[in-house]
Amino acid sequence: MDFQKESSIHITCALGISDYLAAELEENNFTIINQAKNHVITSGSLTDCIRLNLILRTAYRVYYELKVINCPDQQSLKHSLSKIKWEKIVSTKGCITIQSFANHPSVNNSMYLNQLVKDGIADYFRTQFNERPDSGKWNEDAVSLFVHWADRKARIYLDTTGQPLGKRGYRQQGLYAPMQETLAAAIVMASGWNRYSDLYNPMCGSGTIAIEAALMAANIVPGLLREHFSVQNISGFDKQVLLNMKKSLYKQVNSEPNRVIYASDHSAGAIKAAFENACRAGVERWIDFSNSELESVKIAESEGVVIINPPYGKRLGEEESLIPLYKQIGEFFKKKCIGKTCFVFTGSRLLSHQIGLKTSKRLIFFNGDIECRLLGYEMYAGSKKRN
Ligand SMILES: C[S@@+](CC[C@H](N)C(=O)[O-])C[C@H]1O[C@@H](n2cnc3c(N)ncnc32)[C@H](O)[C@@H]1O
Repeated sequence: MDFQKESSIHITCALGISDYLAAELEENNFTIINQAKNHVITSGSLTDCIRLNLILRTAYRVYYELKVINCPDQQSLKHSLSKIKWEKIVSTKGCITIQSFANHPSVNNSMYLNQLVKDGIADYFRTQFNERPDSGKWNEDAVSLFVHWADRKARIYLDTTGQPLGKRGYRQQGLYAPMQETLAAAIVMASGWNRYSDLYNPMCGSGTIAIEAALMAANIVPGLLREHFSVQNISGFDKQVLLNMKKSLYKQVNSEPNRVIYASDHSAGAIKAAFENACRAGVERWIDFSNSELESVKIAESEGVVIINPPYGKRLGEEESLIPLYKQIGEFFKKKCIGKTCFVFTGSRLLSHQIGLKTSKRLIFFNGDIECRLLGYEMYAGSKKRN
């Protein structure tokens, strides 16, 4: 496969955070060709895709467009598939996995389209080489394809990522209602934190927000925490290219910690998990952890931001029981956070109204499939109740 050939690159992200993804791309000199709520399109080579997988903090997956096919029906799709030189992408000894999306009258589920494409590729290999690569479910060694067939156009993409980029690898899953790492990164970006001033993260749970902030402050790109991306399985991948990129990104790491990130939680178990996660991410020296009730959290009078992701209660009755906690957050901002920009990330409108302060910012993000809001409050001296 020619790793230098330019094509369209389609990068997905969690619903609502594409502005931050676009900003990351522009910062790294990629042109934005198109943007929607859950993806951004840019252009570049497969080598650029390797770099994008390493550096992006808010992306989900990076797809390289292999081919756009005009195909009104299944016959023409099969025919066009037989024209692609698949041996340049996957060897007969390799493995291929296919995901798809179809909006075509002849296909009523994506499993069927996966099978159609798989058969087309298998036919090609059998005709040309009398043997074919394995195919099946996603696995770490497979070349991963994504096919999007809508109306008369099929787009074939190479998924260069594999396991979503949000899975950085530093977190033990399932504890303390953790948020996605990519979302936490977007929240830190949205807070406008400058990486030098104080950042407080009370109710830190497993520490995702504090850890993402520390990764930014330390200039550690998240890809340095990962061993594997699907692009490594594509024929012609040169591992030296990845190693060199990693080497130069390591050189840019800021190794002198500036301890300005304060993470706390009233659960000792959460603080232990957050500390262990920070160790795995290599940023424990950047974060001051404390096992503390919200009301006892000490906030310095210096410039900075406060970001809180309180529980928001998914089950019936739970929401109401959290009303006092949200009132307490409002009081905490008013009494202790004068001069700071404060943020609450929550999935409950009912609860957000209990904070009782005027918002300066309201952004909609999705945590999985839950519509959430990031609410900003400017706590300048004299800021009082909402009207
Ligand atoms: C939704 S979780 C935070 C998840 C976090 N963003 C993460 O990614 O892991 C809310 C956290 O608030 C903590 N918490 C709830 N009430 C608290 C209080 N009054 N003081 C301090 N922490 C509190 C809980 O222990 C829990 O860890």
